Amino acid sequence: MGLAWWMQLEQVDFDADDGRVAAFHEIHRLIDEAGPRMTLRHFTSFIRYSWSGDRAESYLAIEDGEVAGGLVLEFPDYDNTHAAMLRVLAVAPPHRRRGIGDALLQRAIERARAEGRRLLIGESDGAEGEAFAKARGFELGITSARRVLDVGAVDWHALELGRAEAARHATAYVTERWVGPAPKDRLDDMVVLMTTMNEAPFDDLDIEDEVWDVARWRRHEEINKGAGLRTYTMIARHGETGEPAGFTRLLMDPGAGDGWAWQADTAVVGGHRGHRLGTVLKLANLAWFHACEPSVERIVTWNAASNSHMVGINEAMGYRLLDLWYEWQLPV
Ligand SMILES: CC(C)(COP(=O)(O)OP(=O)(O)OC[C@H]1O[C@@H](n2cnc3c(N)ncnc32)[C@H](O)[C@@H]1OP(=O)(O)O)[C@@H](O)C(=O)NCCC(=O)NCCS
Repeated sequence: MGLAWWMQLEQVDFDADDGRVAAFHEIHRLIDEAGPRMTLRHFTSFIRYSWSGDRAESYLAIEDGEVAGGLVLEFPDYDNTHAAMLRVLAVAPPHRRRGIGDALLQRAIERARAEGRRLLIGESDGAEGEAFAKARGFELGITSARRVLDVGAVDWHALELGRAEAARHATAYVTERWVGPAPKDRLDDMVVLMTTMNEAPFDDLDIEDEVWDVARWRRHEEINKGAGLRTYTMIARHGETGEPAGFTRLLMDPGAGDGWAWQADTAVVGGHRGHRLGTVLKLANLAWFHACEPSVERIVTWNAASNSHMVGINEAMGYRLLDLWYEWQLPV
């Protein structure tokens, strides 16, 4: 491993007005040129607070006073306390293959051990990340496929016919929808629905189910709002029992102005599967979202490559494969 003695690692100080987070953001933006890029506001929130308030730490590689790379590590506390999540490990292109990646990884390993974590989990897209992960002994945990929907190519009439046809199989259910954080009297529903997300396949990835409660869900929504994101949620409820039966969420960042949106979680609760609720929810939410956010041109989504059911729905909607992402794990 390279010693990289000519650079220093410094922990990010979010209160210092030194432009370093902005420099890190620029490096991060270069990792993935094919997909949506986070605004500085979104990126800062993501590295500081993670998605749901898990403890996070960021370190920068500084060379001659400039940011040459960075690392974001998360320590889940609600669940998965055996693992540390490597959310970002990135080196600016002119500084690659000089040992900075190794130095950042070494710091991640030291911090993970110091926190009593036995596993480091990180993801990559692209050949360089894959080569680095393999060279440093990471094992593949799961392959995810990223798909994109070209919103301009959607046949809205056909989509409505498809929704109406699917809805004929789901007459025992009603849908509800809202923009932004869930209303107070829907928080318990969101806990049930988010817990169902644990049933998506994780293949060989050594992770436990995520534990959701109202406080954690609220925190997640506050963070999203603070990051500048707008969320469109649709849920299905069983008319007779009132049970929450399924949900889906689309997110966009009005401050980005780049025409991108994200299709986030979709799940149908165990006892309510087989009524085409997944299809109804996704088609109805997309039509509503499009009516509210006509400037969105492309929607991106990730699924486990092995999740044939969800992938089948997405393909039928017009989502097309963009690339594969890999999640890696390293015992530490
Ligand atoms: C992956 C990344 C962080 C590596 O940073 P780096 O500073 O170039 O890494 P290092 O110089 O410390 O490389 C360590 C070893 O990884 C392997 N490696 C790294 N990049 C490689 C490449 N492009 N091709 C083949 N092997 C590579 C080599 O074995 C290398 O050792 P060597 O140079 O002595 O042969 C950088 O390419 C990057 O930012 N990529 C985009 C983000 C990403 O994919 N992150 C990985 C998340 S797991």
